Amino acid sequence: MTEKLITTTRENGVFTITMNRFEKKNALSLEMYRQLIHAYQTFEEDDSLLVAVVKGNHECFSAGNDLKDFLAGGDLNKSHPTIAFIYQMTRMTKPIIAAVAGPAVGIGTTMLLHCDLVYAAENAIFQLPFCQLGLCPEAGSSYLLSQLAGHQKAFELLVLGERFDAQTAKEIGLVANVMHVDNVIEAAENRAKQIVALPTDAVKRTKMLLNRGKYEKLQQVLDDEVAHFSDLLQSDDCQTILNKFFTKK
Ligand code: COA
Repeated sequence: MTEKLITTTRENGVFTITMNRFEKKNALSLEMYRQLIHAYQTFEEDDSLLVAVVKGNHECFSAGNDLKDFLAGGDLNKSHPTIAFIYQMTRMTKPIIAAVAGPAVGIGTTMLLHCDLVYAAENAIFQLPFCQLGLCPEAGSSYLLSQLAGHQKAFELLVLGERFDAQTAKEIGLVANVMHVDNVIEAAENRAKQIVALPTDAVKRTKMLLNRGKYEKLQQVLDDEVAHFSDLLQSDDCQTILNKFFTKK
């Protein structure tokens, strides 16, 4: 493998994590989850790193889980890279800023629920097509999205699974701001620099206070979601739909 699937850079306390599999629209493979976990662990453990920025490029954030891996099945226990990645995100104590452009599908959207600040480009398109695939919500979205948007909007987005734009994402509180695609990554990086300049302990305690009570609740939610998701993944409905994605072209 010549190109790294996840690249990281560090500059003055800002740790930038870039998903880098653009020929597959940043569909997250098992190896990418492993590298993402490693990147977030590095960020968490290194005291010189204070704020993370996660991004794709100006055309694509992430097409979600690699559907080939869903087809291959496998036991979705806590050590499975997909599941371990989500649990890792719930444990992060430092700020994470996301810059989203182009498609953000499935986990490409739900990982944003674990970020502290999300900037979206006008070309960003979000989608939670779990039911369309014969699956159910993951990454805590059954809880976090209804907290954010209310039961009805969460139901609409998670059950009908239709695409929604950056403006809608802002209205429901999934993103903080919408901007021109040329500015979105720079805006996230500038915010990161501003936060780095603030007293670190005050920032970390503020994140902790905003999240209080959420961590415990999320662990139960994640356990439940994984059990149902795992069941559904093996169903004939789901496997038939997944096969169609690759054969229809
Ligand atoms: N898993 C595996 N491969 C994927 C993928 C995914 N989630 N998303 C895209 N790809 C692959 C395509 O198969 C295609 O591969 P190929 O060039 O070998 O044929 C390549 O990435 C480009 O995708 P394509 O669909 O041609 O790009 P697009 O710009 O027309 O559409 C998306 C982009 C994201 C809208 C579309 O790819 C899509 O809907 N992907 C599936 C999203 C999904 O259901 N994710 C899982 C959610 S749980």
